[in-house]
Amino acid sequence: MAKNFYLTTAIDYANGSPHLGHAYEKVLSDVIARFNRMRGKKVHFLTGLDEHGQKVQQSAKKAGVSPLEFCNEQAAKFTDLCKKLNISNDDYIRTTQPRHIETVRLILQKLFDKGDIYKAEYKGFYSTRQEQFLQEKDKVDGKWPEIFGDVVEITESNYFFRLQKYQDWLVDYIKNHDDFIYPRFRAKQVVEFLREPLNDLCISRPRERLEWGIPLPFDESYVTYVWFDALVNYISAIGYGTDKFSDNWPADFHVIGKDILVPPHSVYWPIMLKAIGVDMPKSFLVHGWWLSSGEKMSKSLGNVVNPLDLADKFGVDTFRYFLMREMNVGQDSEFSFDLFVTRYTSDLGNDLGNLLNRLLNMGGRYCSGKVPQAKIEEEFETELKKSAAETADEAMRLYEGMQFHIALEKIFNFIRGINRYAEQRAPWKLAKSADPKDLELLNTTIANMAESLRISSILLAPIMPGISAKILKLIGASPVESFEGMLQWGNSLEGAKLAEKEILFPRPEQKAQ
Ligand code: ME8
Ligand code: MG
Repeated sequence: MAKNFYLTTAIDYANGSPHLGHAYEKVLSDVIARFNRMRGKKVHFLTGLDEHGQKVQQSAKKAGVSPLEFCNEQAAKFTDLCKKLNISNDDYIRTTQPRHIETVRLILQKLFDKGDIYKAEYKGFYSTRQEQFLQEKDKVDGKWPEIFGDVVEITESNYFFRLQKYQDWLVDYIKNHDDFIYPRFRAKQVVEFLREPLNDLCISRPRERLEWGIPLPFDESYVTYVWFDALVNYISAIGYGTDKFSDNWPADFHVIGKDILVPPHSVYWPIMLKAIGVDMPKSFLVHGWWLSSGEKMSKSLGNVVNPLDLADKFGVDTFRYFLMREMNVGQDSEFSFDLFVTRYTSDLGNDLGNLLNRLLNMGGRYCSGKVPQAKIEEEFETELKKSAAETADEAMRLYEGMQFHIALEKIFNFIRGINRYAEQRAPWKLAKSADPKDLELLNTTIANMAESLRISSILLAPIMPGISAKILKLIGASPVESFEGMLQWGNSLEGAKLAEKEILFPRPEQKAQ
């Protein structure tokens, strides 16, 4: 049996509330999951919540609740986000779940027994915000950058994971696997980082400093470092150590933001896997940041856009469309509310919504609400069909290559092309003619508009699943679960019942607040 297409997102820190960055990563992953399902792959899509660590402990204390109670409340917010955004994840992992805790402890014990974890005295600079020890090279112009928050010097005994032992292996691995990091320019950062000798990684925190974590199985007076804990989610969720594991592993994509590639995902994670004898994931898909006036949106900076407000106000598929249309995967993008509204009114309202309205309207008026037969093919028709075939080919190729923003550009060019076709044929004029050929042309135009819209809707399904299904229903097409055989031009809609008028994208001022 073929292995599932296994896709993961980063697991969100439970200490903050969901924001645009989280929403984007989930939508991006969901689009990839849906695209692959529609191509006939069996997909396993995992997302989840990262619940241990200092910041969670602090936030819980501030809120006057236990860390677990705090996490339960946070988990409700993040799973609610998934639901509202129509994320089709197959599983949701929380790092406080027994299945996860057991796996982390199993791996720690394995590495300890193998001698890859050892105890030593450590003195160093510690960032409370990032929960990590820092090195001189982390300084910028002789100072600790803002992102580290308060930095204090501490000495303590701790457990260390032998990263250095695996450095040469990792350098070779990255050199020999071009697909390991996508987009490829991000691999340079990793190679750069690996030029310097790696320090072994401190993977423990004394319990007197941090209570909220997974205790080390070989020394319960310590808990494990939050990254060592969090990364393991990718395998704890799919039953590492059981027969089921190979149904999904190796992961096809770990989708992550650029801030967590180096070092956690590109250095710690591969070495952890190598050390326990597990194959490497196939690829990291590293996306950029949503910025607000040039700064990363983050809870600590307070410049966050609440994704649920936008989705509530403009519809979840509008929100998904915007994220995929405006972000070139791998790059950063500036969030602009004005641009959001423009995309909504022009692409969705004027181009797509208008096309549907025209079709339903004219279909009702001239063809008694049924898709007629297309009998004529002249230059306009040939052009339209050619454009449909090209758009479908290109969109599939671009989806496959993660170029979602260009795929959408092409699909919407095609949609504008359908509107243009309607104007060229002008059914409202043909309807006034007594010539039987004009009547056939009128029918052909309505049928071709319906067929083009059917193909466009199917192409949009991974990105706008709700709108896609709704349009298909309104034009009398059956629901679609696979691309297979569905993107070819045909006359499957002949005789289908067209719905009455329907406004998919009402003008913003008409929306109830
Ligand atoms: O890093 N734009 O959690 P997190 C785009 N728990 N993406 C953004 C973003 C922004 N403005 N802000 C954050 C963590 N992200 C860890 C991960 S994985 C084993 C542990 C992305 O809640 C960020 O890059 O801070 C990351 O991929 C994800 O949101 C979760 O970030
Ligand atoms: Mg973060």
